[in-house]
Amino acid sequence: MTMTDRDVLAGLAVTRLTPALGAEVRGVSLATATEELAVAVRALLTEHLVLFFPDQHLDLAQHVAFGRFFGPLEQHPHLKNAYLDHPEVFELAASKGGIADEWHTDLTFLQQPSVMSILNMVRCADAGGDTLWTSLEAAYDGLSPALQELCEGLSALHDATAHGRPEASALHPVVRVHPLTGRKSLYVNEHFTRRLVELTHAESDMLLGYLTRWVTNPRFSVRHHWTQGTIAMWDNRCTQHCVVNDFGGERIIQRVTIMGDTVEGLGPRWAPHTARRGALTYHDHQLKAALRERSRAAQAER
Ligand SMILES: [Fe+2]
Repeated sequence: MTMTDRDVLAGLAVTRLTPALGAEVRGVSLATATEELAVAVRALLTEHLVLFFPDQHLDLAQHVAFGRFFGPLEQHPHLKNAYLDHPEVFELAASKGGIADEWHTDLTFLQQPSVMSILNMVRCADAGGDTLWTSLEAAYDGLSPALQELCEGLSALHDATAHGRPEASALHPVVRVHPLTGRKSLYVNEHFTRRLVELTHAESDMLLGYLTRWVTNPRFSVRHHWTQGTIAMWDNRCTQHCVVNDFGGERIIQRVTIMGDTVEGLGPRWAPHTARRGALTYHDHQLKAALRERSRAAQAER
């Protein structure tokens, strides 16, 4: 870190929220952010994985401008908000769509899932509607060495069935290596991850069920109670989040997402496992189709 970064950081009031992840940051206005501040925020995000900035009240243009400090912005692949002035902003209102109440990392059905998301709490629920985040690094660290080693050799099929688009899919390593820190994360989630590729369907069900519950252990997580105007940003490469669906009335969030990068892991140690015949064969259709598609894409690139 340079002297300039330290100076900027010194002006920020940072409060660590749990041992696993999360920090609240005060003493800064994101509406007038500079590159210098963005460098400091980036360093804080690498350390804490999710940051909360209360009392910011950014408008759409300020939200987009702040997001652009961290990379090119991308639109949501399946959801559009044509009534907003800025196509980069994705709005989710409780009255207009689903509530993200399953644990997930954003958009892991893409080959390059978003690097980072920045959320503006435009209108809070009257009561409830908290969001939880969990550290996938802490979840990986908490596994036994034996299970860590098994997971490092596996890959997983992710798809957008949750958006009604099961054909949108991607294969990712089960243990992701963070490009900045080299830290390992347990990169599977109940919302988008369908199948562990190198195991039988039944084995995959068992282990995937265990792992996706394991990452939600409260000691890996932080729970945030919202106030209107708070900006939250998270590293989407090593966290999951989930909204508590316990509220009535309107709750409106707006989000910008930073364009994704390739998910790096150690590489699968075994060939994909698909049943050759028998009653369980139908479970493997989607996996076979995804593998065929990947093979076609690889040949087209040659
Ligand atoms: Fe999300």
